[in-house]
Amino acid sequence: MDFALVLSMSFLAAVANGHQTQVQLKPDKPFQRVQISENASIECCYSCKENTHVTWIMNIHIVNGTTKPRFVNLSDEVKAEPMTEVDGVKCHRLILKNVRVDDTALYQCFINLTSRRFSIFTHGTFLQVYIPMHKTFDLSESAKNSIIIAEGVLLLLCVLIPGTMLLCKGLNLDDCNSIYHQIQRSHVQGPYQDVACGEIQLEKP
Ligand SMILES: *[C@@H]1O[C@H](CO)[C@@H](O)[C@H](O)[C@H]1NC(C)=O
Ligand SMILES: *[C@@H]1O[C@H](CO)[C@@H](O)[C@H](O)[C@H]1NC(C)=O
Ligand SMILES: *[C@@H]1O[C@H](CO)[C@@H](O)[C@H](O)[C@H]1NC(C)=O
Ligand SMILES: *[C@@H]1O[C@H](CO)[C@@H](O)[C@H](O)[C@H]1NC(C)=O
Repeated sequence: MDFALVLSMSFLAAVANGHQTQVQLKPDKPFQRVQISENASIECCYSCKENTHVTWIMNIHIVNGTTKPRFVNLSDEVKAEPMTEVDGVKCHRLILKNVRVDDTALYQCFINLTSRRFSIFTHGTFLQVYIPMHKTFDLSESAKNSIIIAEGVLLLLCVLIPGTMLLCKGLNLDDCNSIYHQIQRSHVQGPYQDVACGEIQLEKP
């Protein structure tokens, strides 16, 4: 390999390394879950002595497993707050108001060093917007107890009413309407013909 090429490559690597150390990324909050219609606040922090130009990037997950980076469009709902600097650590904050499910993405800061052609992405924060499960009822304990008692009574009635009806039907069939008794009546032509069912059985030979 050409000696000059090797030399220039190692020089480029040294420059790149130099830039790398000029921007020291601070750990980002990796994951944030925010309920739909609430506000989200995402932060990226780094230390760098040089002037920087920072833009926010969102990576939208695409169904086939790839992500698509886009510049975040700022609006009334999505605002990039001005940089704050404390003890040499610069922080940028992105405020998303009234978040929608579409806002779910990995948000990163894209840091450009204005003095050189060098830029770097922060690690990023994954924002997940979720829809809460709705509470159907919010009942007091006493109301719950009343409902449980009412359910118990209803259950008892459901068991008792059909049971009682079956019992009544059963008695009627056995004592009054069976074929056996009709035959008995046709044979016994006597004063006992129309007497109650129980007495007819007594007449059996
Ligand atoms: C979101 O932020 C706006 C203004 O900053 C505020 O009026 C609103 O109450 C916030 N909403 C929630 C759900 O915190
Ligand atoms: C994934 O889908 C996007 C758009 O639908 C397409 O541009 C891209 O090439 C796809 N990537 C792969 C790896 O299939
Ligand atoms: C920002 O706006 C441009 C033009 O209106 C649009 O093409 C792009 O998709 C938008 N980016 C996002 C992240 O919505
Ligand atoms: C950041 O720097 C790159 C080159 O390093 C340049 O192409 C790009 O336009 C710059 N972006 C911004 C937002 O300044």
